[in-house]
Amino acid sequence: MTAPILRRLSELHALTGRWQAEGARIAVVPTMGALHAGHLALVSAAKAGADRVIVTIFVNPRQFDNPDDLAKYPRTEGSDAEKLAPLGVDAVYVPDPDQIYPEGFATTVSVAGVSEGLCGAHRPGHFDGVATVVSKLLLQTRAGCAFFGEKDYQQLMVVRRLVRDLDLPVEIVGCPTVREADGLALSSRNQRLSPAARARAPALFAALDAAAGAIGGGAAVAAALEEARGAILAGGFAAVEYLELRSAATLAPLAAADAPARLLAAAYLDGVRLIDNVPVPPAGG
Ligand code: PAF
Repeated sequence: MTAPILRRLSELHALTGRWQAEGARIAVVPTMGALHAGHLALVSAAKAGADRVIVTIFVNPRQFDNPDDLAKYPRTEGSDAEKLAPLGVDAVYVPDPDQIYPEGFATTVSVAGVSEGLCGAHRPGHFDGVATVVSKLLLQTRAGCAFFGEKDYQQLMVVRRLVRDLDLPVEIVGCPTVREADGLALSSRNQRLSPAARARAPALFAALDAAAGAIGGGAAVAAALEEARGAILAGGFAAVEYLELRSAATLAPLAAADAPARLLAAAYLDGVRLIDNVPVPPAGG
């Protein structure tokens, strides 16, 4: 059955009010649309963990530091609704912009610490935009749990931090990155790659995976990162924006994998900025 598409907060509250009266646990899967199998995996996880599932689709202008990126962001509401139809989603919330940012909107949610460095260093204001819209979507949907992909690992850490700091009554569930058969992490940005660039794109994951294995096997971190950087460039990427080993729990920089760690990277291919990250097994573990 096709889920109702709601564009006004009053409609959303009428529905979630009924669900709450029935004692239902509500899950939300926040998205910006252009849905792919990674989003659909979040929806499946949400279905398994809640009584009612809301998918939100809102291309949030406040998290784009580059107007060109915002303009090029794919808007595919019709095909998104078709993809969600077989999954038994209970509602799709596609808020009109004034439902998120009403006239005079003047509040920013800003998370320090985990939002610094990595994408935060290269996309000024990005995580303020994410934290602000996610706070609103969690509150508007009255969700008891919310599902985010580990592909945007820093975003997941920012959301966990804000929920903890603001005592929002929501469980944040992180779900593993979904990959193509050749290792490329699913992303709506992949659509912007030319066929030749698409063929080269798996070099990013391959380099991260090899470096994580090497570091877990006891290789020196600096040497493994240098080798990975070289492999990404040799694989056809034009530039590596960052490539860093960080604590999986706090995102603090690590010089050695002596705590649960994550290797995170952003790199440019064919003018498209791709990000990816992998867990690093403890050295010698
Ligand atoms: O990951 C995304 O698609 C967006 O950053 C999110 C969480 C929906 C907020 O706009």
